[in-house]
Amino acid sequence: MAKVKTKWVCQNCGYETAKYLGKCPDCLSWGTIVEEEVCIQNSKTSGLCIQNFSNQKPELLSSINSNQNDSIKRQKSGIDEFDRVTGGGLVLGSLNLIAGDPGIGKSTLLLQVCSNLAKNGLKLLYVSAEESAIQIKLRANRLNIDSNNLYIYANTNFELIEIQINELKPDILIIDSIQTIFKSSLGSVSGTVSQIKECTLSLMQIAKTLNITTIIVGHVTKDGNIAGPKILEHMVDSVFYFEGDKYKSYRMLRCNKNRFGATDELGMFEMEDFGLRQIINPSELFLNNHRQNDKGVSGSVVVATNDGNRPLLVEIESLVGVTPYPSPRRVANGVDYNRLLQILAVLEKRVGLNLSKQDVYVNVSGGLNIYEPASDLGVAVAILSCAYDVVFDPKTVLLGEIALSGDIKNVTNIEKRILEAQKLGFNRIIIPKQQNKKFKDYKIKIVEVEKLKEVVKLCMENMKKEN
Ligand code: TYD
Ligand code: MG
Repeated sequence: MAKVKTKWVCQNCGYETAKYLGKCPDCLSWGTIVEEEVCIQNSKTSGLCIQNFSNQKPELLSSINSNQNDSIKRQKSGIDEFDRVTGGGLVLGSLNLIAGDPGIGKSTLLLQVCSNLAKNGLKLLYVSAEESAIQIKLRANRLNIDSNNLYIYANTNFELIEIQINELKPDILIIDSIQTIFKSSLGSVSGTVSQIKECTLSLMQIAKTLNITTIIVGHVTKDGNIAGPKILEHMVDSVFYFEGDKYKSYRMLRCNKNRFGATDELGMFEMEDFGLRQIINPSELFLNNHRQNDKGVSGSVVVATNDGNRPLLVEIESLVGVTPYPSPRRVANGVDYNRLLQILAVLEKRVGLNLSKQDVYVNVSGGLNIYEPASDLGVAVAILSCAYDVVFDPKTVLLGEIALSGDIKNVTNIEKRILEAQKLGFNRIIIPKQQNKKFKDYKIKIVEVEKLKEVVKLCMENMKKEN
């Protein structure tokens, strides 16, 4: 008979305590500590794993054959945006987590990935613990997917799921989602910290022993009712976040952790009526309005930002107007609020632009968030352009961090950003002065600047009064 004891666990961060507490001392959230039963004895799965690992002995580092690792086998899905983020395809036998808000499109993405992998002859098992097999079939019909290599198993009981995995021995296993499956040997309900940790641990052992590439879906929850994917990030090989704006149709797949590749990749998709479509050229998504209107408008500029490893051209808009309030308003949408205040202070001190009686609104079009200092120069010029009511050349891209002294500081990945601006048909790019760096021959005109004052002069020459 298994010995059962209870513990109190925070459903937000996994903090454990012996007694009830109203507020979690670790993550400081209220009312998230819940009593959970813990089964001390090993479950059936652990028994299976002990059998599988019982022949293993510690090895000397020098005697480990590294050739094995040289040839890491990857399973490409053929969806370029997905393969790029995974570092060239999922690694054979790896355990991956895809996390995101409910309804963002995780199941849709995975079904599309599964269908592509199945076309390559791989055997897949899609365990759905949220939707019935019929619901998945309906989604597959909507996505125009059909396959003879893709098995659907709708169940929430981990022990039963494990039997099916052992019987079918698939190449790829999808668990949708980790918060809805449970081990009956544990006393707690599904979605609690103990259930999530135990199930993930067993999945890890299954993935490594049977060499099954596993993808776990995890919902990100802010209210703390269901334990979030944060608590299992350290257990898995790779963590991907699927995110997007509720009101916008584009979605981004980001890699937060990757034991087999880079973490700074970004994949972009758009949710359409028949599933997710890859966006090969994301800058166009954020520049649409701007490019249609070649005349430009006051207060609008284009900056070359960097998301992960990927250059993105984004439009920054600004609105400056006399304030009806005793103290003026500053509103930052998509840019850091404190950075905006800092840029306004530098504009006042170094350029002499006094906005103490005016409201300033700054917005990044497309609902994107850019927290990179490289967009400082763009924010400053957008404000200048609106404050003086003049149009900034719509065919020029801005790039540079503004120091408190009014100097323009260098930014990373500069050549990639120049190339992106050139690719999208811009004529000129203003960048920070480069020390000891010679650029190749670009078609786009590169202007190097040292001080914010220089930029203002340069911009005013090219700006024309809006009519
Ligand atoms: P889903 O993949 O079920 O989200 P998750 O698994 O992350 O909870 O996606 C659900 C949303 O996507 C739903 O609101 C409907 C929308 N959707 C489309 O717009 N087009 C489609 O082709 C599909 C399948 C879903
Ligand atoms: Mg889902």
